[in-house]
Amino acid sequence: MSNNAKRQILVTSALPYANGSIHLGHLLEYIQTDIWVRFQKSRGHECYYVCADDAHGTAIMLRAEQEGITSQQLIDRVNAEHQADFARFGVDFDNYYSTHSEENRRHSEHIYTALRDNGYIASRDIEQMYDPQRGMFLADRFIKGTCPNCHTPDQYGDNCEACGAAYTPAELIDPVSAISGATPVVKSSTHYFFELPKFEAFLKEWTRSGRLQPQIANKLQEWFEDGLNDWDISRDAPYFGFEIPDAPGKYFYVWVDAPIGYMASFQQLCEREGIDFEHFWQRDSDTELYHFIGKDIVYFHALFWPAMLEGAGLRTPTAVNCHGFVTVNGAKMSKSRGTFIKAETFEQYLEPETLRYYFASRLTSGVDDLDLNLGDFTNRVNADLVGKVVNIASRCAGFVKKSGGRLSAECREPERVQRYIDEGEAIAAEFEAREFARAVRRIMALADDANQFIAEAEPWVLAKQAGRELEVLDICSLGINLFRQLMVYLAPIMPKLAEDARAFLNLDTLDWESRRRVLRDHPIEKFKPLMTRIDSASIDNMIEASKEDLVEEKKLKAGGGSADKYQEDESTADTFEPLAEQIAIDDFARLDLRIARIVSAEYVEGADKLLKLELDIGLEKRTVFSGIRAQYAPEALEGRLTVMIANLAPRKMRFGVSEGMVLAAGGPASQDDGIYLLSPDNGARPGQRIS
Ligand code: MSP
Ligand code: ZN
Repeated sequence: MSNNAKRQILVTSALPYANGSIHLGHLLEYIQTDIWVRFQKSRGHECYYVCADDAHGTAIMLRAEQEGITSQQLIDRVNAEHQADFARFGVDFDNYYSTHSEENRRHSEHIYTALRDNGYIASRDIEQMYDPQRGMFLADRFIKGTCPNCHTPDQYGDNCEACGAAYTPAELIDPVSAISGATPVVKSSTHYFFELPKFEAFLKEWTRSGRLQPQIANKLQEWFEDGLNDWDISRDAPYFGFEIPDAPGKYFYVWVDAPIGYMASFQQLCEREGIDFEHFWQRDSDTELYHFIGKDIVYFHALFWPAMLEGAGLRTPTAVNCHGFVTVNGAKMSKSRGTFIKAETFEQYLEPETLRYYFASRLTSGVDDLDLNLGDFTNRVNADLVGKVVNIASRCAGFVKKSGGRLSAECREPERVQRYIDEGEAIAAEFEAREFARAVRRIMALADDANQFIAEAEPWVLAKQAGRELEVLDICSLGINLFRQLMVYLAPIMPKLAEDARAFLNLDTLDWESRRRVLRDHPIEKFKPLMTRIDSASIDNMIEASKEDLVEEKKLKAGGGSADKYQEDESTADTFEPLAEQIAIDDFARLDLRIARIVSAEYVEGADKLLKLELDIGLEKRTVFSGIRAQYAPEALEGRLTVMIANLAPRKMRFGVSEGMVLAAGGPASQDDGIYLLSPDNGARPGQRIS
């Protein structure tokens, strides 16, 4: 048990759509949430983590049709795949369900009825494009035609990919249904609306009460300024979803019953385990409710959802925790580059816990995008986990085993262990605040300390000297105790590693409080290697396999008839990287940019992208490895001026240490567009600072 009172906490991650595979982007969210939940459980709180597949909507209905199966068959299959993927990555839901469930139908009907009875539902007729052949209304993305602005053919119903113009489907020249190819007609139908503007005052207050990250609260401020609108919550048949109780032939729009799916999944858990559902959802509940989501679905979770709950007389979320998007090697995940990596593919080549560790080591409480740089990923896992953490146990275990397998009866340097125990409060505070990168830094600082202690004590030297067996045992027993502390702290991030370590340490638990009992005269088990290094071949193979995944998918689509037209095409969308988060002038001032003269440049054997540059920045010389080989011959670079980041921490690369970075346009983010080294105007001299 932890010092503070036991909390009751319900946590959710967004419900993944039931028509696609789980990929590394999704995993950021489920891993972030899972780490936080495991941390809460380790602290002794009553914490439940629920999720489900988001099974409704037109896309799923059409996908099933395309595959020649029923919607139910599709969502059952995908549900099993998703659960297998989550299990692979140690994402441990207390319940995983589907929005296509009786519990969800009941809760959706109940909330809708309450909203209607409380006067928040309106209905009116609207005109919409209709596919007369298929007999269904068409959402904008299911209509294609020629752009009214630039006349590029084959554009979607709401905007043109060629010129960027935005328009309504009615304005398209020669519009066709992407589903049947028929010419759509305009047709009128009654729709139901949730009257969001009636919640303006409530939402303004709610979003300002510390439930959202500052960046998100600011975004909402803009939305308030733009004005809130009624939300169209109904869809006409045919639609895969729940029929609206008092409106035959009308269905709830998928985004209505999706968040209610959080409740339905929890309901199923409550019935199975005898938990009091009402207690968690009634207004003014003293339990906590957190939703973890990506930044693309803020509108639904920070406006519609709290308003729906409020309007239906239920509790609202304690907080909505938003994260940024995953990029790989500096660019949007791309199928053609093989960086659109599925969970299943990753697991075939790499240990899933390495991804959990990497994400944790990069995650903050903010909404910045997170780049999975595969080189950095490899270095970090090898250096931190294999080189530091596991190393402690593997250096000490053998000596303990040799002297009988029991740790010393007395602890050498108890104050050192105490320092590790005390650090647990600071680490806990970082976990609680979702500052996982900071937690990892603190844990790794302890790992450095432990390694340094062992390196200085040199048990392997003493072991060769007669009569010093007890000293060796004392040193290694302390080493094992320090390792145990680290495992308590890493357990939420790497549950499998921690479980193996727990078995090795012969302990019942590694929960947070258990760390206070120092291990004395305690038997340990035989040490088995806990983790192996990542080699770059596995990464290359994973990228190749992801390219294969794309080929398979294309085959599937080719066989699928016209329905493939509205499947997302990832390969066209990544010409420009999105703009990065806004920063303050102080952030910029932290960069020490200098004019550098390239004294010499040479090829690096075994690296087909790198050049090794010797730079003169006036005050000192620097060696930098730069990925510009494709574009520049070494001789052409010698003598020229460029710009470098001079205060970038040195990075150990396979070929040596890189002491900074030269600046170039392009690079990994847009490999196909070339790379262009920056250079100053005439007159600049090496060492000048750029401001
Ligand atoms: N079905 C909706 C959510 C309904 S919640 C009541 C949905 N599904 S999704 O499958 O598209 O996305 C699920 C979650 O994964 C979302 O929170 C989304 O932001 C997140 N991510 C999907 N791709 C992502 C990245 N590339 N990077 C980080 N998160 C991403 O939205
Ligand atoms: Zn156009």
